[in-house]
Amino acid sequence: MKPMKSMKQLGLLTVATLMAASLNASADEGSAIFTKECAKCHGADGKGDTAMGKKLKIKDLTVEAAKLGDAKIESTVKAGVKDGDKVRMKGFPDMSDADVKAVAKYVLTLKK
Ligand code: HEC
Repeated sequence: MKPMKSMKQLGLLTVATLMAASLNASADEGSAIFTKECAKCHGADGKGDTAMGKKLKIKDLTVEAAKLGDAKIESTVKAGVKDGDKVRMKGFPDMSDADVKAVAKYVLTLKK
């Protein structure tokens, strides 16, 4: 029965390692999502200093994010931003909750 026990310990170790890796991954993952989905409007640094950002009069996320907090950022990413009937930012309703959380967390790291 000894080999069984060490197999089990190995299994637990693997789970612990994977969990630690996925915790670390979420900030990096958030950065990758931001670059892919958000930077074209909000700018790589979140300041909105892009052609699109100027056209859309995007606020500086490095300043605004901290005022919003993570829950509000998450709901903004999911639902987008509307001004009356006008869609200012399209939402990402198909983005997984984990990705929404990761990108919101990343947005909060943009502040100076
Ligand atoms: C098509 C351009 C575009 C894309 C792509 C885009 N946004 Fe936006 N975003 C806007 C506009 C326009 C606004 C509304 C103006 C503002 O509040 O800055 C906005 C507002 C926001 C706000 C609210 C800011 C505030 O002060 O209320 C957050 C947070 C935000 N975006 C995050 C994101 C994230 C995260 C992504 C990527 C998952 C993303 N946006 C993708 C254009 C875009």
